[in-house]
Amino acid sequence: MSRHVVATAQEIPQGGRKLVMVRGRPIAIFNLKGEFYGMLNRCPHQGGPMCEGLVTGLRESKMPGEYVYSREGEILRCPWHGWEFDIKTGQSYCDPERIRTRSYPVEVATGQTVVEGPYIAETIPVSIEQHYLVVEM
Ligand code: FES
Repeated sequence: MSRHVVATAQEIPQGGRKLVMVRGRPIAIFNLKGEFYGMLNRCPHQGGPMCEGLVTGLRESKMPGEYVYSREGEILRCPWHGWEFDIKTGQSYCDPERIRTRSYPVEVATGQTVVEGPYIAETIPVSIEQHYLVVEM
């Protein structure tokens, strides 16, 4: 596994997203209330572009007419057929036992840490004041 700098933390505001390529794979990076999550930009159903999906919350119902809405901004709906996934885990809500999209850990590293690594000069402009997003893959 290697570490890849993909963006500055400031590039993706809260509730925002960015599509990046890491080792030839498209990864959608999401900012959920200041925490960053990466997800393969390929829906496990039929390959839809996950990064273009609507971000919403979780609707649950134990019986007809009763609904509970929670986790606003943490659920991603695939733009092709509407399957929903937990952005934090990749878990599917269509068939949570079997289907999950691939997710990747994303960390925020200080500029100082990144500057000391061997990869930063090739990928993004260096500023030791800024914070960079690093994907491990
Ligand atoms: S391709 Fe994503 S729901 Fe069908």
